[in-house]
Amino acid sequence: MTEERTLILVKPDGVAAGHIGDVIARLERRRFTIDALKLVQATPDQLAQHYHQLVNEAFYPGIARYMQSGPMVAIVASGVTIIDSVRLMTGPTDPAAAAPGTIRGDWGRAWGPGPIQNVVHSSDSVASAEREIAIWFPELR
Ligand code: CDP
Ligand code: MG
Repeated sequence: MTEERTLILVKPDGVAAGHIGDVIARLERRRFTIDALKLVQATPDQLAQHYHQLVNEAFYPGIARYMQSGPMVAIVASGVTIIDSVRLMTGPTDPAAAAPGTIRGDWGRAWGPGPIQNVVHSSDSVASAEREIAIWFPELR
């Protein structure tokens, strides 16, 4: 079992609702290591790179607006199998389908049409994590 890094974003809705500390506390409770952390205002270019697989979707402009609607907190954390552990902690994309106890299940909800506002992002693979860390923390390269 090898150490991995993951990239977590507390999205603008999560920051506005006061969940920065909640997300950090969940990482600390699991004894994961916080390697880097900062408040960021996303640029269109960073978002297009981060969501490169969604950038050509009709609904992408709504996602870009949502992700720029306020500051986010970007976190790099590490630990053994942290990527799957944090994805489980995050819950599925749709907060309505996320179990209580997950971040999205505890603090997310459905908001009707428009982008799915779901409190946090977390990387889904080692390759995604390393790609995403380079976008939000170029200084760590
Ligand atoms: O964040 P996650 O990996 O669970 O989902 P994704 O499929 O990679 O999509 C990234 C983000 O785009 C989601 O977390 C939503 O905020 C947004 N999204 C959306 O608003 N509507 C969709 N149909 C798909 C994604
Ligand atoms: Mg994803």
